[in-house]
Amino acid sequence: MKFLRSSIFILILLSVGYALRAQVPGIHYYMVGGSCCADDRPPLHELTTTRIGVVADLHYLSPMLVDEGEALDSFERATGRVVQDLQEVLDKVFDNLKEEKIDVLLVPGDLTNHGERQSHIDLKQKLMDFIQEGVRVFVVPGNHDINVPNARAYTGSNPTPTESITPGEFAEIYAPFGYSGALERDEASLSYLAELNDHTWLLCLDTNRYGEHTTTTITGGRIREETMDWALNILEIAKEKKVVVLGMMHHGLVEHMPYQSTFFPQYLVEGWEERADKLAGAGLKVVFTGHFHSNDVTRHLSPSNNAIYDVETASLAQYPFAYRIMELDEEQLSIETRFVASTPANPNLEEEYKEKLKRAARRVGRDRIKNLGIPIPEEALGPLVEVISNLSVMHARGDEELDEVMKGAIVAFADMLGGEADFDSFSFDFPPEDNRLVIKLDGVR
Ligand SMILES: [Fe+2]
Repeated sequence: MKFLRSSIFILILLSVGYALRAQVPGIHYYMVGGSCCADDRPPLHELTTTRIGVVADLHYLSPMLVDEGEALDSFERATGRVVQDLQEVLDKVFDNLKEEKIDVLLVPGDLTNHGERQSHIDLKQKLMDFIQEGVRVFVVPGNHDINVPNARAYTGSNPTPTESITPGEFAEIYAPFGYSGALERDEASLSYLAELNDHTWLLCLDTNRYGEHTTTTITGGRIREETMDWALNILEIAKEKKVVVLGMMHHGLVEHMPYQSTFFPQYLVEGWEERADKLAGAGLKVVFTGHFHSNDVTRHLSPSNNAIYDVETASLAQYPFAYRIMELDEEQLSIETRFVASTPANPNLEEEYKEKLKRAARRVGRDRIKNLGIPIPEEALGPLVEVISNLSVMHARGDEELDEVMKGAIVAFADMLGGEADFDSFSFDFPPEDNRLVIKLDGVR
């Protein structure tokens, strides 16, 4: 039974990750590093506040690379991404961020569907609209952005090859979004340092392996040794100058669920624990990430007792179509999460894509259980598959809590095994909260 239980847990993890790749805010504050509650915060108008938006994993595909036909139909069937839906989601999110009068927009990678030059060029135009409105934009590349050997256009009956871009071209195209105004550039990668305000810097780390691409992209990431030395040197200078440093990178810096580094190593930077310990020890307090297409915030404590928060934002290319709006002042970072539930052309966007994610998780979960040959009775398979698919959807949205549907599925599954439902075994969201929280920056300076 023990083997069976741990196998099931592993299966759930595997299935969750696969489903995420294939394709209203919470209600209370989580105070970090202090004992005060939300009501103890100083009024925002007494502090210098910077409003910051975060959008991740846009996977933008230029309208010039698609046209009605079999190539587009099969792309949409295979990925579950209807191109028109994604374009409307992006427009809606960008409109909302402009209405919200953000000062800064952060984009931690996977800007394009799969590295198409035309997608980069068109996205640049959309980002330039923010610059026109006085919003500063900062980007870093993701694994789907540079040197993509199999970038494709979807017109006619078959996909056709289309040009990607080099690392140098990335820095040129996105010059207005971090590269041209950088305080420092790393010589070993597309990492750079930007000034957010008088007392805050943004350390943007390029964690990708585009130099090694041959026939397709490499999902995994790492922080090169030279880049690490460069970053640690900056953190040392920041400490001397009493400047707060926030980070941004595509890959996760710390684990977002138990055993993530074992089962999904390609979603974290190589040697994540050593990297996280060193960066936290040097004073990096928060890092904004994407890549895993989920909303999750995880706190990691270094041996030197320094905490770092990996604020991972879900994708705008699949359920739950989430983005962040944050307020940064001298004392804290307040984070809220918004979700797109509908678009003009698709009033059922949220339900439709939630179901797509569930279906993908069901299919993969069922296949894996069968392929691994785990001895689960046929009548237990259905309930287990339901547990897996529900967990996938909940993890993507963040702040996973067992709802009645989920509890019902677990009870049904436990019944089949002849045991009692143990809800704790199915909880795997590390603290703090994921969608609405406050990170205290005390102790940084
Ligand atoms: Fe990615």
